[in-house]
Amino acid sequence: MLEQKILNIKTRAAGEIKKAQSEKELFDSRVKYLGRKSGFNKILKSLKNLSLEEKKKIGPLANAVKKEIDEEIKKAEKIIRSKVDLEKEKIDITAPGKKIKRGHLHPLTIVQNEIEDIFTSMGFEIADGPEVETEFYAFDALNIPKNHPARDAWDTFFIKDQRSKIKDQNLREKILLRPHTSPVQARYMQKHKPPFRIIAPGRCFRNEATDSSHEHTFNQFEALVAGDDINAGHFKYIGQEFFSRFFKKELKVRLRPSFFPFTEPSFEFDISCVVCGGKGCSTCSRTGWLEIGGAGMVNQAVFEAVGYPRNRYQGFAWGFGVERLAMMRYKIDDIRLFYSGDLRFIDQF
Ligand code: DAH
Repeated sequence: MLEQKILNIKTRAAGEIKKAQSEKELFDSRVKYLGRKSGFNKILKSLKNLSLEEKKKIGPLANAVKKEIDEEIKKAEKIIRSKVDLEKEKIDITAPGKKIKRGHLHPLTIVQNEIEDIFTSMGFEIADGPEVETEFYAFDALNIPKNHPARDAWDTFFIKDQRSKIKDQNLREKILLRPHTSPVQARYMQKHKPPFRIIAPGRCFRNEATDSSHEHTFNQFEALVAGDDINAGHFKYIGQEFFSRFFKKELKVRLRPSFFPFTEPSFEFDISCVVCGGKGCSTCSRTGWLEIGGAGMVNQAVFEAVGYPRNRYQGFAWGFGVERLAMMRYKIDDIRLFYSGDLRFIDQF
């Protein structure tokens, strides 16, 4: 009788443990079948009233069943716990990924990097200077004296006069936003002696009425090569080499007489049209040539201004527009697009 009872408890417990879905249900089963108030416990307690023979038979059976139920519950708990964890850590590897928004370089940065690469491969150094300049470096040192009408060629933004507050004599100049990169020439030469080859790319500012080819903020890259016997032939060759590499085709260059206070003689620098190769098309207004920028042989007055002896060195310099090159490269027809912040434009690069 007792034996049957024990076996019945065992089957009932096994059935319930099998069906249990949570740890809570298993805990309840444990209380119900093995707890102090469980029927099973009552049986165990009553064992002492049995005959020795019966004790010998029922005792081990009861203990074995108790152990078995306990083990079954433990096993079931383990399985439920591992299922819960798996549920939590489930990764749906078939779900579409979240697209990471990737930025990219601005077209002017791309072009500037390329310019720097080509020149460094030709042994040039990259020089830098401040965008907020003094009038000494922007004009005086470049052979454009105070009150000289040549200054009118640069529509300069002057910064509100702070001179009286500045103790350093050298800085008691008018302060301005540099209208060209040429001041870097003077700054570099004050610290270095020829021979050297530098380019100085950077931002410039002019008080312009903007249109499709003029912007108040733009970039130039200055070149300066100085040594004992640098001549215009060197200049023509380096210019041609650079533009042929930049546009990845053989180009011709042309120098036309011009005037800049800091060069003597001065040139306008043209390259054969990158679209038609010189035959004449709408890009070059049927001339076969594209204007690139100003250049010349460094005026001895500039060398003197930075402390070199007159007629000791020779050099050439130029100031070319980075936007102009980017516009030719990418066929952009309005310079104002570069700083427009218009994503429809920027996302094309
Ligand atoms: N600084 C001149 C400008 O912005 C460009 C220029 C012309 C630079 C001749 C030079 C040069 O170095 O030699 O208009």
